[in-house]
Amino acid sequence: MKFTYKAALLICSSVFAMSVQAAGMPQSSKHAQRGVNCTQCHTTGKFEPVETKQCQTCHNQDQLAQKTDRLNYISRMKNPKTGEVKEHLARINPHDRYHFGKTEDCTDCHREHRPSVNDCATCHDVKAWNMKDPK
Ligand code: HEC
Ligand code: HEC
Ligand code: HEC
Ligand code: HEC
Repeated sequence: MKFTYKAALLICSSVFAMSVQAAGMPQSSKHAQRGVNCTQCHTTGKFEPVETKQCQTCHNQDQLAQKTDRLNYISRMKNPKTGEVKEHLARINPHDRYHFGKTEDCTDCHREHRPSVNDCATCHDVKAWNMKDPK
């Protein structure tokens, strides 16, 4: 008896908490328009920040990395004294890149309930990269 009562109370209070939070939680149009709902990301029964592996259940990281591979470019630097030109591949693909490969968390850049940011811009001038802003 006591157990059922506690369980019922727990369910009620978490449903209540969820609806209160839901009221102040506008969802991004990229997902809402596609019918991706709250619990497809928040799978633990609580509204906690969502782990990258949950995003990857729908978004294939390898395919993503292939799609944005086009952003990598050949960087050329000319030595003004010798005229020598050095070339190297600048790996700026945000889904597989120079610093961390494929290991960075999606939500470092793509946010759900607030504007997304390009994390690289903390240190680099990303305008020069011709990259779209992350949605
Ligand atoms: C596409 C995945 C996704 C969907 C769908 C989604 N969320 Fe989130 N939610 C996140 C992520 C990621 C965060 C972490 C913060 C951020 O991105 O702004 C978060 C954070 C939250 C938080 C704050 C948690 C904390 O402790 O900071 C609440 C509350 C929340 N979401 C509620 C909702 C509600 C309500 C819905 C449905 C209307 C919803 N979420 C739909 C991904 C999602
Ligand atoms: C239940 C499946 C599902 C989950 C989980 C999910 N997404 Fe999505 N996401 C979609 C669908 C469907 C679309 C729209 C079609 C598309 O662009 O792939 C989309 C679109 C997007 C887009 C916009 C793509 C564009 O160019 O319009 C981004 C960015 C994105 N998701 C990131 C995330 C991140 C980050 C997470 C984890 C916090 C996440 N998604 C979790 C299904 C999901
Ligand atoms: C360092 C920042 C960063 C991280 C981390 C990141 N992205 Fe992106 N993402 C971007 C940028 C920037 C674009 C737009 C690139 C362009 O097309 O110019 C993008 C594009 C996308 C798109 C649209 C691709 C297309 O062209 O159809 C999806 C979907 C997406 N990201 C999902 C994810 C998911 C899922 C993760 C985690 C596994 C992730 N991203 C991690 C910055 C990031
Ligand atoms: C905390 C600061 C910081 C952040 C955030 C950061 N970088 Fe860097 N990055 C550096 C520094 C410092 C260097 C030069 C030293 C080195 O090569 O490690 C560098 C070098 C690079 C290089 C090599 C230079 C070249 O021309 O080939 C690439 C490519 C690069 N970063 C890409 C990125 C991308 C893409 C992101 C975002 C996903 C990013 N960085 C985020 C600090 C940062």
